[in-house]
Amino acid sequence: MCGIVGYIGNRNSQEVLIEGLKKLEYRGYDSAGVAVFTKNGLEVKKSVGRLANLESKLGDAPLEGTIGIGHTRWATHGKPSDANSHPHTDSSLKFSVVHNGIIENYATLKEELIANGHVFLSDTDTEVISHLIAVEYQGDIVKAVQKAVKRMRGAYALGVLTEHEPDRLVAVRNASPLIIGVGDGENFIGSDIPAILNYTRDVYILNDGEMAVLTRDGVELLTLEGNFISRELFHVDWDLVTAEKAGFDHFMLKEIYEQPKAYRDTMGARISEDGKRVVLPEVKMTEDEIKRISRIHIVACGTAYHAGLVGKTIIERLTGIPVETDVASEYRYRSPIITPDTLVIVVSQSGETADTLAALREAQRCGARVLAITNVVGSSVAREANSVITTWAGPEIAVASTKAYTTQLIGFYLFGLFLAQTLETQKPEYIAEVLSALQQLPTQVEAILEKAEDIKDIAEQAATHEDLFFIGRGIDYAVTLEGSLKLKEISYIHSEAYPSGELKHGTLALIEDGIPVIALATQDELLEKTVSNIKEVVARGGYIIGIGNEGDAELPRQVDRLFSIPRTLGLLTPALSVIPLQLLAYYAALARGNDVDKPRNLAKSVTVE
Ligand code: G6P
Repeated sequence: MCGIVGYIGNRNSQEVLIEGLKKLEYRGYDSAGVAVFTKNGLEVKKSVGRLANLESKLGDAPLEGTIGIGHTRWATHGKPSDANSHPHTDSSLKFSVVHNGIIENYATLKEELIANGHVFLSDTDTEVISHLIAVEYQGDIVKAVQKAVKRMRGAYALGVLTEHEPDRLVAVRNASPLIIGVGDGENFIGSDIPAILNYTRDVYILNDGEMAVLTRDGVELLTLEGNFISRELFHVDWDLVTAEKAGFDHFMLKEIYEQPKAYRDTMGARISEDGKRVVLPEVKMTEDEIKRISRIHIVACGTAYHAGLVGKTIIERLTGIPVETDVASEYRYRSPIITPDTLVIVVSQSGETADTLAALREAQRCGARVLAITNVVGSSVAREANSVITTWAGPEIAVASTKAYTTQLIGFYLFGLFLAQTLETQKPEYIAEVLSALQQLPTQVEAILEKAEDIKDIAEQAATHEDLFFIGRGIDYAVTLEGSLKLKEISYIHSEAYPSGELKHGTLALIEDGIPVIALATQDELLEKTVSNIKEVVARGGYIIGIGNEGDAELPRQVDRLFSIPRTLGLLTPALSVIPLQLLAYYAALARGNDVDKPRNLAKSVTVE
């Protein structure tokens, strides 16, 4: 995890670095720091806690200089503290490094360096890098970095400065994202594009095993062996304003309200004008290859995993192809059966999640084709997958994912229908019916958002409890898992999601007087059974908040509070029923006075395994 940024030019580098770090705080925010060349040499300032702490330190004693590197941290090795914050230096204080990733063999390297007299000031893996570079330095920082990284195993995006060469900034990447911004008389490095978008729209995206040498006048891209790489600049044509709050109190709320647009954008031209077919030229598979798919694995983490659980039901129901959904960090280690006729679908908002990327590589190594559903064009996942369905949700800044999840669902609906039309597992009339219902979803989401006050009321009541339960059957259960995760992430209320019928096999013991139980009951054919489970909870004193379809006669009679969603096809309800659950989490977190966009201990993009 972590975010890195670097600048070389003629501006006050401290300001550029802080601006960049603000855009990267979603990658981690337990400490931050900068190193700048000043008239005194390479000076470092760092501070535990939010970026604001560093800003106030710098406010008291600014660092004047035009070259610098900066870092916002999400702790892996060593607790959040001033000492463990980046940038890290070597013993001579002449080399300074910012790092995103994990050096897996750092302990061995550290032992060796200590035996040779190096003194370490932190518990981090990163500090070994600055020492290694110093050891390897013989008058050329580029060569020193090349030699040092050859000794390191693991993931890294690095920004490196040395006082010996005050007109060069070196960046190198392996398995952690890194981009280079190209300006006029100034150049930048960043963990992602928003970090530098205030200054330039022209970027190089570094690949693994590549480095960049930045001076004021230019950028050279090199392999680790020192060969020059020629690459076209990528021009960013999206706007930073889209990544700002636009009048909402929090990014999360803004992103919840952006969902109707995100649904429309993601469906976009992928539905034929006559509304009868899905058009997915981005799926780079021939009809024969599609017909040979015998099984599908969906692999993802966190919220994207929950989208994958819904995706399983969507694809199985539409195509009859068996689908398994796995948490990416478990996938490789359970020795999954991957054959050349397995299609692996990786789902990732950021496209940089280390476990998901590792699963993708493992699947390809076993000969499977990989389809990615991701929100970030140019991300590692997008570049390495064989086919990519981009979710056009736009930048998602809040750590708690909302519009990325729902657009991932839209991606699954489109792909499931695409498979069904290619394999002829569904009648054309049914495909047209689902497509028509899909196109109504954005308006139906708008109708739900208009009733946000009802959810706010429910959430404020729920926020007074320490435990809460969700129940649902079938596809509803998959959605309750996401609702429960959302609530935990930002409100810190303990919650659990259970298949309605499973509650009585243990967890029912936890139901006491007044405990809120959110019952999701959108599947008509399962309603009766869910009602029986609701009664089991009511009998133990549980307080039932029901979420069902408009017009249901039975559910309102069984629950203490009711929230209804507009009617759609049973298969499509997740794209509606999750909206009140997102709002519930948001308002509960707000009622508890939490930092909604930056929950404790979490980060937006997890680029370590
Ligand atoms: C982190 C985020 C989650 C996200 C997960 C997967 O844990 O906090 O919100 O769902 O990573 O991220 P991805 O970018 O791969 O979807």
